[in-house]
Amino acid sequence: MSSQDQSQRWNTVDAYLADRLIGADAELDSALAFNAAAGLPAIDVSPPQGKLLHLLARSIGARRILEVGALGGYSTIWLARALPEGGRLVTLELEQKHADVAAANLARAGLAERVDIRVGPALDTLPKLETEAAGPFDLAFIDADKPNNANYFAWALKLARPGSLIIVDNVVRDGSVLAGTDAHAVGARALFDALAAEPRVTATAIQTVGSKGWDGFAIALVNG
Ligand code: SAH
Ligand code: DHB
Ligand code: MG
Repeated sequence: MSSQDQSQRWNTVDAYLADRLIGADAELDSALAFNAAAGLPAIDVSPPQGKLLHLLARSIGARRILEVGALGGYSTIWLARALPEGGRLVTLELEQKHADVAAANLARAGLAERVDIRVGPALDTLPKLETEAAGPFDLAFIDADKPNNANYFAWALKLARPGSLIIVDNVVRDGSVLAGTDAHAVGARALFDALAAEPRVTATAIQTVGSKGWDGFAIALVNG
């Protein structure tokens, strides 16, 4: 089978899984439509991945969630929906335009009150969260500029508590993690070096295939 046929099958299976387990969802579907209309790149997590984030947040009873990289807020909607009454999500986004689209999508989803969007480079806004004592965050989802993944992991750990989950997207990227020389691959290896050297977390990574091709998530639990 050609690799094009293979990725077509991954897509078709992802569509099947999303049809059986997610179905039409007016708020999520319209968020993707508004993202496309605004010219945002279609690099949101896939629907099954978004639901995985949602289930992980719910299963740990997350009340405070940190996201690095909002884009149009698709993953933000999945995560914010997992919050109980009074829960809060802070999402950090570099681009004002992305933040504006995310704010509109979150408002349409009825989630504006639960979500705080901070615009700017995350390495500037993360220290402010520390100063404000905005944490500890029960779950952090890191999905921004990949070269900074190890830096974002260090910040997520600083803003966490024992029992927090730290999840990082795009850590395999077509296998480039092994030997790629681009900034993305170098960033992925720096993350794995940091995870391997960090006694305060227990971590794994899972390779994924689907509508986003061949990629993977790293998941770290902050030890008690
Ligand atoms: N989590 C989103 C997708 C995020 S795409 C979803 O699944 O729906 C990556 C986002 O990170 C983009 O919107 C990009 O503008 C943002 N980004 C890139 N560099 C950043 C930085 N230094 N600080 C914060 N956000 C950044
Ligand atoms: C791409 C995918 C992502 O999930 C992401 O966060 C950034 C880029 C991509 O496919 O280019
Ligand atoms: Mg991603």
